[in-house]
Amino acid sequence: MSDNHKKKKRLKKRRFLTKQERQLIERWVSQMGNYPLDTPYQKMKIAEQIMQLPYKMIGNGLNRMVFDLGNGYVLKVAVSGIGLTSNKKEYTLYHSCHKEIRPFLCPVLEMGEGWIVMKKVKRKAAININNLISLVMLSSTFYRNGILPVDLRLDNVALSTENKMIVIDYGLFIAL
Ligand SMILES: Nc1ncnc2c1ncn2[C@@H]1O[C@H](COP(=O)(O)OP(=O)(O)OP(=O)(O)O)[C@@H](O)[C@H]1O
Ligand SMILES: [Mg+2]
Repeated sequence: MSDNHKKKKRLKKRRFLTKQERQLIERWVSQMGNYPLDTPYQKMKIAEQIMQLPYKMIGNGLNRMVFDLGNGYVLKVAVSGIGLTSNKKEYTLYHSCHKEIRPFLCPVLEMGEGWIVMKKVKRKAAININNLISLVMLSSTFYRNGILPVDLRLDNVALSTENKMIVIDYGLFIAL
């Protein structure tokens, strides 16, 4: 077996969360529908209380809470139905997309019931003319590869160490 193949196999088996952490997230996800009238903020407070995860929350949108796993990866937990489908979409799109666009998508390593583990990025993209031009060019790369980049905006991208723009929230992208 080649070294590359061994590495891939090891990565496939990788488990980022303990069994107990997975069960706590599952408990939250199974109760998520009980709070249809709560705001995303209120739902996140309830989710935090139910899950009691030992990780720092480093971000959130309207649909997901994002925790720093402390090892170069983040955990995204759904707080809405859109969050659930976004997690699934990011995992499947990353693993099934054309190789030309994979470098522009932040890697998703693992998926479970209502959660995914994604590589952590450190540099958000500031609002400036260069980044706005990169964003337009990135949009066109996705179109050319048969992907409608729904909700692609500066808040949903980051910059890699090589200054390349990568998308961290592509849960609403549509493969045409
Ligand atoms: N891979 C990542 N590395 C570091 N921080 C991240 C990463 N992914 C998300 N974040 C942080 O968490 C925030 C929310 O993430 P994300 O945009 O995926 O959530 P969302 O609920 O789907 O958002 P939206 O409200 O746009 O639907 C981001 O704006 C960012 O600050
Ligand atoms: Mg977002």
